[in-house]
Amino acid sequence: MYTLALETSCDETSAAVIEDGRHIRSNIISTQVPIHRKFGGVVPEIASRQHIEYVMPIIKEALDTAKVTLSDIDHIGVTYGPGLVGALLVGVAAAKAISFAADKPLVGVNHMEGHIFANFLSHPELEPPFLALVVSGGHTQLVQINDYNSFKLMGQTRDDAAGEAFDKIARVMGYPYPGGPQIEKLAKDGNPDAIEFPKALHERHNFEFSFSGLKSAVLNYLHTQEQRGESYNAADVAASFQKTVVETLVEKTMDAASYSRAKKIVLAGGVSANGCLSAAMQEACDKKGYAFYHPDPILCTDNGAMIGCRAYYMAKAGCFADLTLNAKPALPITGE
Ligand code: KG4
Ligand code: ZN
Repeated sequence: MYTLALETSCDETSAAVIEDGRHIRSNIISTQVPIHRKFGGVVPEIASRQHIEYVMPIIKEALDTAKVTLSDIDHIGVTYGPGLVGALLVGVAAAKAISFAADKPLVGVNHMEGHIFANFLSHPELEPPFLALVVSGGHTQLVQINDYNSFKLMGQTRDDAAGEAFDKIARVMGYPYPGGPQIEKLAKDGNPDAIEFPKALHERHNFEFSFSGLKSAVLNYLHTQEQRGESYNAADVAASFQKTVVETLVEKTMDAASYSRAKKIVLAGGVSANGCLSAAMQEACDKKGYAFYHPDPILCTDNGAMIGCRAYYMAKAGCFADLTLNAKPALPITGE
């Protein structure tokens, strides 16, 4: 069975062909990062225009690379939320047009569920149930994956997402978008114990996150140093901030794992590319005897392959959309 999948929720235009749900035949990603970099973050209107320009050539490249034609495709999966509305609409419109013209069933995919399913592509042996921590630029969520189509949201951030905090702090420190990889690189030369930053909501069995207080604390520290006319050690700030985020994510995940009696922990989303986070999570899982999984680096950030994997399992369960499918910028993980 072949799935053609489209992803246009933010600043990557991507199309993929997936065979039998877990085998990547092609995964073409066109990133707009260099275009948005000069503005310090993603400009929604520019993102939509870039998607319009690239979506059809990228679909063609995905089919050609996979050595299939549209007639070989069994169904079309597309991200319809959460994300930027104008960006999502481009993918949704393209998928609906192909679905109608080629008479192929359409599957509407939740982007965050796609991130989690990236792990099925990197780990052929992985099966539910497991606990997933999804950390991206827009979301931080702990989700119980009971089965391929049954999820329960345990908690999420009340304010900023983890990736958002990385991006904002990097920007104030003068580093280009996206800030996550910049902070990680900088932190390698820093002392993680140099500055103590606060952790929020750290009481037991509280599965919500809050990163806005931490972000403000780091920004206050930088401003205070500036006002005093004193320099700061950027590597120490990055390492201390990163350590606080990583410890918060690991502590909450371990608490949620014991609460939900999970045996397997899965990391997903753009921030899961962070080596410090995956190493700390691995160490904590080893101590508790949990199996730990995280996606290959190329599957951590936005890509069409993860959407194809999710679409396959929805199609298997008969979850198809019709041509009324619309973009849903704030689409939640439904639990069903
Ligand atoms: O999942 P993703 O590609 O897009 C969204 O769905 O948001 O995640 C992008 C986020 C950005 O905030 C970026 O700074 C962060 O992932 N990120 C990282 C790293 N690589 C990407 N954060 C920390 N360390 C990294 N190595
Ligand atoms: Zn994403």
